[in-house]
Amino acid sequence: MLRHDTPAPTRWNERAYDSSFGYVSAHGAPLVELLDPRPGERILDLGCGTGVFTADIAARGAQVLGIDGSRAMIERAIATYPGLDFIVADGYDFVVAEPYDAVFSNAALHWLSRDPDAVIRCVRMALRPGGRFVAEMGGAGNCAALTAAMSTAWREYGLREPELPWYFPSPAEYALRLEKAGFTVRLLEYFDRPTPLDECPNGAADWVRMFAGYLLAEVPPAIVEPLLHRVNELAAPALRRGSEWVADYVRLRFAAVLD
Ligand SMILES: C[S@@+](CC[C@H](N)C(=O)[O-])C[C@H]1O[C@@H](n2cnc3c(N)ncnc32)[C@H](O)[C@@H]1O
Repeated sequence: MLRHDTPAPTRWNERAYDSSFGYVSAHGAPLVELLDPRPGERILDLGCGTGVFTADIAARGAQVLGIDGSRAMIERAIATYPGLDFIVADGYDFVVAEPYDAVFSNAALHWLSRDPDAVIRCVRMALRPGGRFVAEMGGAGNCAALTAAMSTAWREYGLREPELPWYFPSPAEYALRLEKAGFTVRLLEYFDRPTPLDECPNGAADWVRMFAGYLLAEVPPAIVEPLLHRVNELAAPALRRGSEWVADYVRLRFAAVLD
């Protein structure tokens, strides 16, 4: 049972998420291998989204709870996997009644940019001693070409530089945070993961709509399309390969154990 079940403000476009951007989930598969869930283990999936990994972990016999700050995501997860447990909870501020054997998180921690230490503290409090924290997130330099194209386009159109919502730490920085919170880092990988934007016919512009769409709400409607067109022009040399767009993702993947 979680104490906090109020929806956290998230900037998610839930409808588009599974249909057009299933690759977010598709790329996380090796992370479940790293987690190595065992039958009967109690596992918490932090920032579970529509529950794809929650279901995968449950299929291996673990007892899983998926939590997410977005009510819409949780509603979709419940509708898709009615037999599993999901709850709306804020990653900065959740408390569990019974400790978990592991906390898992795919592609969510970089969205919790306001206070990464608060998130790690909550994870620590949710784990039993010896419990594991296994996660993957964007790492330093993630989407650098995409975000540089955005900044330039915004500037060219006389707009205030967009405040990007993500936290993309270096391996050293995140390891230090984990160690300070009482974790031993057993594995930490930092790698490029060029990611074809298979389902983004309009390339970088579609990516911006999905992942930074809330920034477009602040842009005068008449210039949204030309602005996005400019983002595409600026990003194309780095990210376009023929008719295909390949995003410059950089990942941080870790497995840590609570001392
Ligand atoms: C890219 S999705 C990843 C979803 C899922 N883990 C997956 O791999 O398919 C990021 C998720 O983080 C969630 N999120 C963002 N801010 C959050 C917060 N403060 N507390 C809990 N979840 C949050 C979003 O609602 C979203 O579902």
